[in-house]
Order: sequence, then C-alpha cells, then structure tokens
Amino acid sequence: MSKKKPEPTLPPREHTFLVGVEFKGQRTILALNDSLAELALLADTAGLEVVGELTQKLDRPHAMTFIGAGKVEELKALVEETLAQVVVFDDELNPRHQRELEKVLGEKVRVMDRTGLILDIFAQHAHTREGMLQVELAQYEYYLPRLTRQWTHLARQAGGGGGRTGSAGGVGLRGPGETQLEVDRRAIRKRIDHLKDELEKVEAHRGRYRSQRKRSRIPTVALVGYTNAGKSTLLNRLAKSEVYVADQLFATLDPTTRRVELPGGTNALFTDTVGFIQKLPTTLVAAFHATLEEIAEADLLLHVVDISHPNALNQYESVQMTLDDIGAGHIPVVSVLNKIDRLHNPQSAQETMRQVPKSVAISASKGIAIQEMLSLVHQELYESFIPIEVRLPYQQGALISLFHEMGQIERIEHERGGVLMQGRIPGRLVAQFKPWTKKKFDEEVVEEVE
Ligand code: GTP
Repeated sequence: MSKKKPEPTLPPREHTFLVGVEFKGQRTILALNDSLAELALLADTAGLEVVGELTQKLDRPHAMTFIGAGKVEELKALVEETLAQVVVFDDELNPRHQRELEKVLGEKVRVMDRTGLILDIFAQHAHTREGMLQVELAQYEYYLPRLTRQWTHLARQAGGGGGRTGSAGGVGLRGPGETQLEVDRRAIRKRIDHLKDELEKVEAHRGRYRSQRKRSRIPTVALVGYTNAGKSTLLNRLAKSEVYVADQLFATLDPTTRRVELPGGTNALFTDTVGFIQKLPTTLVAAFHATLEEIAEADLLLHVVDISHPNALNQYESVQMTLDDIGAGHIPVVSVLNKIDRLHNPQSAQETMRQVPKSVAISASKGIAIQEMLSLVHQELYESFIPIEVRLPYQQGALISLFHEMGQIERIEHERGGVLMQGRIPGRLVAQFKPWTKKKFDEEVVEEVE
C-alpha cells in the first residue's frame, strides 16, 4: 500500500519593507539608491520578499525612532497596506530605536537593521565549526542589548532543531525576583562565555596549522573582494575544486585553501575568504577576526572586483578601506577585474585597468586570461624584490637563513650580538623583517650586551 507523498512546499517569504536614510554632509561609499538596492539583495538572500521602500533625508537620526515622527506614521500605513511582517533599516539602529519602532509598528512587525540581516545570512551560510561558533557568538552579542521579544526570533535561528551549537533559551530557571528577561540575559551571557572558550580552542588549532603552513615556505595568496565578485568561482577555476558557488551574497563564509601551480613551476596556497560589503559593522568584522587573520597574514592579496557591476570602483575602494582597518594595508595587492565576459564594451576594462594599479582583466567562469593573472601573481611573489637593511640578533636564526635562502644579499657584517644584512628580499617577506630595522636591534640586543 503506497501513500502519495505530499509535495514539499516552501515556507512563504515574509513581506519586507526597506527604509533608507541619507544624512546631510555624510560621505558614503554608495548613493542611497544603490545602498538600498544592495539591501534588497541582502534581504532576498536571507529569504525575505521585499514589498517596498521608504527614504528620508535627515541632519541626524531622531533620538527615539531614528526617522522623524511623520515618516514613522507614513511607514506604519505602508506596512499595513503591504502586509509587511519585517522592516529593515539600512543603517545600524540602537536598541532604543528598535524598541520604539516596534512599539509604534505593532506586535506583528519585526524591526531589524542591516547588521541583523547580515548576521542572519551568515548564520545560514556558516558550515565549519569555527564559522558556526563565530556567527552564534556575534548573534548573541548583537541581540543581548536588544533583548525584548526579538529573543524568540534568535532562539529559533541559533538553537532550534539542534543543528547548531544549541540555544540558551530556557536554560536558566527563574531566581527570586528575577524577570524572564533577566533570566534570558543571564543564560545568554553564560552561553557567550562558553562560545568564547570553544572558539579559543578552535583558533589555537588553526594557529598551529597556519604556522605549519608558514614553515612550509609556500607563499599564501588570499582572495579578497566585495561579496559576489567571483572569488569562489575563481578558486574553483584554479584548483578545479568544488568550493560552493552561488549567485547569492556571502555564499562563502569559511576560508578554504587550495594549492595552485604558478607559471614556472612555483606553487602558492590560495585561500578564499568572506566577502566584504559596505557598512559592515566593525563589531561584525571583529567576530570574524580569525578568518580575517588569514588575510592579514597572507603574502599577497588577490583583490577580485566585479567589473560588470555599475559600482565596481566604489566596491573596490570600500574593500581597500576595510583591508586597512583590519591591518592588511601593507600587503601587496594584485587586482583582478572579473566578469569581463559580461561587458558590452570590453574596451572599457582598459579604462578601469588604468585606474586600478597592478590589475588584470579576466573572466573566472569563462576561463579568460587566467594564465596572465597567474603570471602576475608569480611575478609579485617571486620576482618583485624590495631593498631592505636589517640587523638580526643571532637568536633570529630562522630569519637569517630565510634572508640567505630567498633574498639577494648585497652586504653582510657580523656585529656584536647579531648580523647586519643589506640587500633585497621578496615583497611578501618584508612584513617579517620589518621589526628588525636598526632601532629594535639597538633596544633589544645592544642594550643587553652592554
Ligand atoms: P561571496 O561568497 O558572496 O563572497 O561571493 P564570491 O565572491 O565567492 O562569488 P561567487 O564565486 O560565488 O560568484 C558570484 C556569482 O557570479 C555566481 O553566480 C557566479 O557564477 C558569477 N560569476 C563569477 N565569475 C564570473 C565571470 O567571470 N563571469 C560571469 N558572467 N559570472 C561570473
């Protein structure tokens, strides 16, 4: 006897209204409309259905409701008309804004901001244990001060079916005089401590793995770029691996490393990293610090830019700014202008290449100009030498032999407590030698010897 299986039905997508504000005199990477278009794409990636948007120009955010009282009324009417269940603000709301807005818009409407939305997407896309721990920690830290009825939403997301690391919901029993809110807060703080401990362990393991890689002397190249630029597609093309590729924002959250052969028989390890986006809050960046360390410790950055995107240059700048923020500003960069197959006029790529230093135009999915790109990487890693003069104490034996092995020595003198080496080294090694310019040697070695 066979029963017909019911057709699986997708849950309906929640109706979502977007709100964007332009602050007078504020310098932004994207114009308001472009920023809202990006927010709509984020909402879509998170599984929401955008039903409308509202904008306002302001001098500064309204203390209570972020937007002005009149606008809130307008929003309320539109939300009712479109049956919206979610309202997403393009800027970060403080907990008070969120509470006040929810009061006005009513019980059934969930108010969130760009950060909350990005966190939701991150939660859907984290696959490794480290990624999941990082996202869960970021979510709890974000929601703790905002804890009202949002909690039910988070509990569903972060714990729920047990697939994730578990929810703090219902963990604590109510003590004398404690409200349910206090119990929840206490449980979350406990969970945050636990997650931090777990992350420390995972990160220590990753640190050991990374130092092993460093010792192997194979240079590392980190793929960085705005979300959806084509980093995973490029890594797939290079390594013929099966890194997840999707036309969605933040499909890649956990770094994946592949070994790739460069022209001339040399090798490099290529690492895919989390995509960047404008207005990515620094707290969120901090939550992913271990992933971002991969970037900060790379020998070379391959900055992938979607040249077919109307805001390609703004996205390029936004990523370069974030790289500075996370302490990766000193690492040499090769820029890869991707998706040239989508350009109506391929000549326009030449124009962008003139504006972006050390760049090459390619198509990752069609396999155009991949060898040229790899030659440029090889050149940067193995042929671009930087002049340097260092004084290395004898205890730094590893660095002394690294200079001998990889550098071109022009002068070498043995001094008290160490050795002076002058010559040229590959650009990617400069960061390792930088601390040993004359000053540090004088402080640490000469003083000790005297
Ligand atoms: P995040 O995970 O969000 O950081 O994205 P990503 O930079 O890893 O982008 P991904 O490789 O997932 O590619 C995003 C979309 O762009 C996918 O639909 C790809 O198929 C498409 N894409 C990537 N490279 C090219 C290309 O050279 N040409 C065209 N036409 N599409 C491309």
